[in-house]
Amino acid sequence: TKILAFHVRDDEQEFIDQWSKEHQIQVDSIPLPIELHDNNIEKVKGYDGLIYKQRSVLSNNESFYQKLHEYGIQQIATRSVGIDTINLEFAKKNHIRVTNVPSYSPEAVAEMALTQAMQLVRHIPQLSARLRDNNYFIEGLRSRELTELTVGIIGVGRIGGTLARIFHLLGATVIGNDIRPPREDMRGVLTYVSKEELYKRADIISIHVWGGADNAHLIGKDQFAQFKPSAFFINDSRGFVVDTDALVTALKEKQLAAAAIDVVEKETSIFNHSFDGDETPVPAYNELKKMPNVLLTPHSAFFTDHAVKNMVMQALDDTLTIIQGGVSPHEIQ
Ligand code: COI
Repeated sequence: TKILAFHVRDDEQEFIDQWSKEHQIQVDSIPLPIELHDNNIEKVKGYDGLIYKQRSVLSNNESFYQKLHEYGIQQIATRSVGIDTINLEFAKKNHIRVTNVPSYSPEAVAEMALTQAMQLVRHIPQLSARLRDNNYFIEGLRSRELTELTVGIIGVGRIGGTLARIFHLLGATVIGNDIRPPREDMRGVLTYVSKEELYKRADIISIHVWGGADNAHLIGKDQFAQFKPSAFFINDSRGFVVDTDALVTALKEKQLAAAAIDVVEKETSIFNHSFDGDETPVPAYNELKKMPNVLLTPHSAFFTDHAVKNMVMQALDDTLTIIQGGVSPHEIQ
């Protein structure tokens, strides 16, 4: 048995090695930034299993999946919650089973959202910018405290629910919205409200929805128009959930106070690359980079020791289960 790990970051390798040693199974790695596409698909030949990562996009055509099948690949295990880079329909048609790692660490992302929220609430990006300009005045940047604030969480799943608990324990009022029925364990933690009520009432709005195409541009012009001008906005879910151009306009028109953006539309052309000078290939992102009230991070909310270890180990466990004829609890279809 031989497994191929694609798009491997250096810091994942120690966990791959650990798993390989424990299970006495060969796992070969192809390091980042090489992605798996039509033009290098032969690389999977001779392997029984394939683990992959959400951030690199697989070729989106049926012949690619047909070839994977021809070369003996039965499954793809993505080392992520998100499965938006795999075409599930083509995978299914070609007998390729897909697994994700649904709960590697909801805390990792929730703690990032807390950090971003607090940085925005306390105006850290603007204070830092002033210091860089040798300006040591604090005027105009007075903050509010969490007990005065209402946090609105869109998507009350594992991550959203964890974040709700954190903010509740810190004394904030927490409201939430989800397309699924209210969770029993959120009783006393958050109050479910309509999206419209959430946009109007929340001082901090954080999005934690599933990265399916049905959530594309969930937040755009019409939604920002309903925000409080003093609202802080956080996106750690998927870039395409927010209309970036609309966000830029809303910030310019002061329809919200500030934003923290960990994921952005067309991010695969930005993250995991470096550019000369200041510009990225995404104009709206370049606009955000210039704004003093925007906090940007390169899709790193998940990036903790605990999360990375779980992502790697669980993807490999699921791969082995499937290639040995078993059924993984994380199978998507
Ligand atoms: C996910 O788990 O879906 C993420 O977004 C993190 C991934 C880029 C490793």
